[in-house]
Amino acid sequence: MCPFHAPPTTQTSGTQTQDTARIVVEEKAQLDFSQSMSYGDYLQLDQILNAQSPRSPDHNELLFIVQHQTSELWMKLMLHELGAAIEHVALDQLPTAFKMLARVSKIMEQLVHAWDVLATMTPPEYSAIRPYLASSSGFQSYQYRCIEFALGNKNAAMLKPHEHRADLLARVEARYQAPSLYDQALRLLARRGIRVPNSHLERDWTQPYTASAEVEQAWLQVYRNPQAHWDLYQLGEELTDLEDAFRLWRFRHVTTVERVIGFKRGTGGTGGVSYLRKMLDVVLFPEIWSLRTQL
Ligand code: HEM
Repeated sequence: MCPFHAPPTTQTSGTQTQDTARIVVEEKAQLDFSQSMSYGDYLQLDQILNAQSPRSPDHNELLFIVQHQTSELWMKLMLHELGAAIEHVALDQLPTAFKMLARVSKIMEQLVHAWDVLATMTPPEYSAIRPYLASSSGFQSYQYRCIEFALGNKNAAMLKPHEHRADLLARVEARYQAPSLYDQALRLLARRGIRVPNSHLERDWTQPYTASAEVEQAWLQVYRNPQAHWDLYQLGEELTDLEDAFRLWRFRHVTTVERVIGFKRGTGGTGGVSYLRKMLDVVLFPEIWSLRTQL
């Protein structure tokens, strides 16, 4: 009989189980953790895996909680990398910054794919947990707001939801007042001898960024002669990757929201899809996109 078509027997699976047990012993895996740090100890899994407390009796609430919590964990890493990347751009250490920015883009892509899991939640499933969410909404995510501010989408109104928590407000305010990644990129262009208007080099960093024809000319200088400005050209493309991934995240968010709640209002009080669609129009690094028409 062809070995590929031999019917599976209980003996085969029994042998496999014994093999696995033997392998674990032969490979000398450590099995006793009464005296040393285990995987769960290192990762503090007791805290993490006991931090899901569904408020409804509904089966699907765990999905909703885990999806948000994992997103917040990825956002934590994103902020860690983004903050360090901004510092390295300010210090002219571009290779290190590139490594970090590439990771930020990949995390964003990971979050884009994560919407597939949440999209398995149907409108009746969400409606069953909706009353238990009360007024909580991703709109109030302080980490998300720090990411938006670090990427230059400054808006004083977004500080308000954090006023009841002085510790969190301080973190969001720090990002609000600091130059964004794009602000630091423009200062770098100027340090490299490329003309950038003063209005875009020294300004009130809490104000939203305003697109400028002169800044577009500055980037065009880089893009028209990549060989002469290779690392700045690479920086431009890293910024493009990042905004590209961020746009996809926003798009998947609004589409998932529409398929789950239609045009109902959000728990955060906005019109829901209408608000999220307006956010699709936000452009973080405007000249990085507009220059392409000129090339
Ligand atoms: C079925 C699931 C979801 C629904 C129905 C939903 C709905 C909404 C709505 C309607 C808004 C607008 C503000 C409001 O009025 O509440 C919003 C904002 C937001 N949501 Fe979601 N969302 C969902 C999942 C998620 C997930 C998994 C995340 C990941 C952390 C998230 C993060 C955010 C953020 C950061 C905002 C603020 C966006 C901005 O200000 O531009 N949402 N969401």
